[in-house]
Amino acid sequence: MSVGKAVRNALGPLERPVTKIYRGAFINLGAFVDQVCSWHPRAKRILEIGGGEGAVTGYLQRQYPKATILSIDIAPDVGHMFEGDPQGVTFREQTIQDLAASSPEPFDLMILSDVLHHVPWDMHVELLNSARQLLADNGRLILKDWRPAWSPIHFLCWASDTYITGDEVHYKTENQFRDLLHEVFGDDAIEAEASIKPWRNNIAFLVKPGKAL
Ligand SMILES: C[S@@+](CC[C@H](N)C(=O)[O-])C[C@H]1O[C@@H](n2cnc3c(N)ncnc32)[C@H](O)[C@@H]1O
Repeated sequence: MSVGKAVRNALGPLERPVTKIYRGAFINLGAFVDQVCSWHPRAKRILEIGGGEGAVTGYLQRQYPKATILSIDIAPDVGHMFEGDPQGVTFREQTIQDLAASSPEPFDLMILSDVLHHVPWDMHVELLNSARQLLADNGRLILKDWRPAWSPIHFLCWASDTYITGDEVHYKTENQFRDLLHEVFGDDAIEAEASIKPWRNNIAFLVKPGKAL
């Protein structure tokens, strides 16, 4: 069991408030989902890849109350802290590759928030290729991650990712993300970029399903 899981179990009913404070030290999730909505306001079918505890899902559900939201993760307890109306929201332990193989109806909004730095770099292209297969022609993928910097907050983020989740994490720079997105989605795929409060380390890319190279 990871340190994070053991700490969560020990916290009992305090898990939810403590998790919110902890996450809020690194990112304003409300500001992130406001950015998502300003980029792509009319989504009807949303896929969240690596949805984790369901914190982003809750904000998505409130911003897109009429949408259906599928949140998948390789972890079995995906969505266990979701807060919101469960109508139209599904959490599932599933890989993006398995979901793509089942050929569901395409999604018009995909969110990948703070997942890729937990995934080995040699799997990034495969993961994004599966996502691309599932993206509707007029759909958008929004990739949010944490860029490294020589700063105390980056050290804290690295230490908590490493010692609390127990994962081996590796952060890409903005240019490395741009290269990755161009490789999978094509040269003109990045439509916009933004940083998300409260730290410039939080970077987000708006990606359209361009023509792959
Ligand atoms: C830091 S959490 C982010 C959770 C959520 N996206 C958010 O922003 O609140 C990273 C999540 O990525 C998931 N993850 C790691 N590798 C994955 C993969 N290959 N496919 C899907 N999810 C993955 C982990 O299980 C974990 O729940």
